[in-house]
Amino acid sequence: MAELNLILLGPPGAGKGTQANRLTEDFGLPHIATGDILRAAVAAQTALGQEAKRYMDVGELVPDSVISGVILERVAEDDARDGFVLDGFPRTVDQANSLGSEIEKLGRRLTAALLIDVPDDVVVKRISGRRMNPTTGRIYHVDFDPPKQADRDDEDGSELVQRDDDKEETVRKRLVVYHQQTEPLIGYYEQLGLLRRFDGTASPSEVHAHIRATISTLKLEEEL
Ligand code: AP5
Repeated sequence: MAELNLILLGPPGAGKGTQANRLTEDFGLPHIATGDILRAAVAAQTALGQEAKRYMDVGELVPDSVISGVILERVAEDDARDGFVLDGFPRTVDQANSLGSEIEKLGRRLTAALLIDVPDDVVVKRISGRRMNPTTGRIYHVDFDPPKQADRDDEDGSELVQRDDDKEETVRKRLVVYHQQTEPLIGYYEQLGLLRRFDGTASPSEVHAHIRATISTLKLEEEL
């Protein structure tokens, strides 16, 4: 089977996690989310988590030395043999270069970088209504994608929580960091012919349908 090695790009709150969960179900690929990996490390109070928390709480990127090794090892694991959905990595040109070399070393190549585009004012509104299951990472929105029962996960009934870095002041800082450090990746992947853009202001189901159609086409092309 052709591999599907996908990257999700976009500002905080664009819907990367929301779409990654759906794509994982559609295509049976592991969802590798740097934010989730770091939050699990923070909750477990590991050395990685303690180091990462200092940066996450103020909306800055954790240093490459803290995150890159973890992710590059993860994409080489067995369950990612047929592909992966990378959410939150790369976030800088250095990270993109490291990912490119690692993938090449494994004799593989990226299939596409999927950009979910959303303006800053929409991001701020969305993030204030986000709720998540702290164990599974499943994401909801109090207005746009509500759980069946308020503040409870549809699947396991756990209490939904708000993320520590979802305060408006921290979200605004995360946006500044996105524009400065991550946005250059749009041109980077465009030059490589890998960029696909999606309007992230449409509903979650519409965005999903557009992305799924694009990936199905890419998959067919890979198989030809
Ligand atoms: P991370 O967890 O990756 O956060 P992020 O990129 O800022 O993205 P978010 O998780 O906030 O948003 P999302 O795009 O996934 O949107 P979601 O689907 O939840 O990173 C957190 C921190 O970790 C960083 O700040 C940094 O410190 C560190 N970090 C992570 N990776 C790193 C790296 N590579 N290098 C260095 N540091 C790193 O949707 C948001 C809300 O909107 C939800 O409530 C959802 O229900 C709703 N929604 C989604 N889609 C729609 C829609 N189409 N319409 C209406 N509502 C929608």
